[in-house]
Amino acid sequence: MVTKREEMVTNGDLDSCGSDFLGLLVKARYEDDESKRISVDNVVDECKTFYLAGHETCDILLTWAMTMIINETLRLYPPAFEMMRKVDKEVQLGKFRLAKATNNVQSVHIPFGMGARICAGYNFAPILTKIALSMILQRYAFTLSPAYVHSPIYAFTIRPQFGVQVIFQAL
Ligand code: HEM
Repeated sequence: MVTKREEMVTNGDLDSCGSDFLGLLVKARYEDDESKRISVDNVVDECKTFYLAGHETCDILLTWAMTMIINETLRLYPPAFEMMRKVDKEVQLGKFRLAKATNNVQSVHIPFGMGARICAGYNFAPILTKIALSMILQRYAFTLSPAYVHSPIYAFTIRPQFGVQVIFQAL
């Protein structure tokens, strides 16, 4: 990109190297007034700063935002709501004695389960969700339809009883 802009300058087309940030830097690199001219290192440093300050920050913000949205959604509406453990034989678990054949339902926030039988998609599922969400957001803006009725029901998973009606608008 820099080379392309520099070619414009060396071809005598200083004014068409762009009025964006990179264009201003390249112009400053070829500034007639020596006191205002900047070095190649300056250009590289400015580009690195701009990349880090402008890209990395928003990138991380978006990553946290998506993670929080996904975690909060999993907390409020965990798809696998009920996680049951059946005791196969009597066992002492720390200070608890668990009798044979009792069902133990846990109601804390562990959306992917835990222990030896933790969800095999534990790492994959949030990535899949982020990719799907990114692909939708790249192409559409959307709002909830006035027809939507909020009614989560438990039917093996927690699901919207009447579906979720969404109005998509192509971007
Ligand atoms: C948001 C999405 C998902 C949620 C909330 C979820 C949740 C769960 C839960 C609660 C369990 C039971 C864990 C336990 O008993 O401790 C489980 C098991 C399992 N999940 Fe998922 N899961 C999701 C996505 C996936 C995906 C994408 C895959 C496959 C690519 C997957 C594969 C499995 C498998 C194979 C088991 C059985 C593991 C075993 O018994 O050893 N899950 N999941």
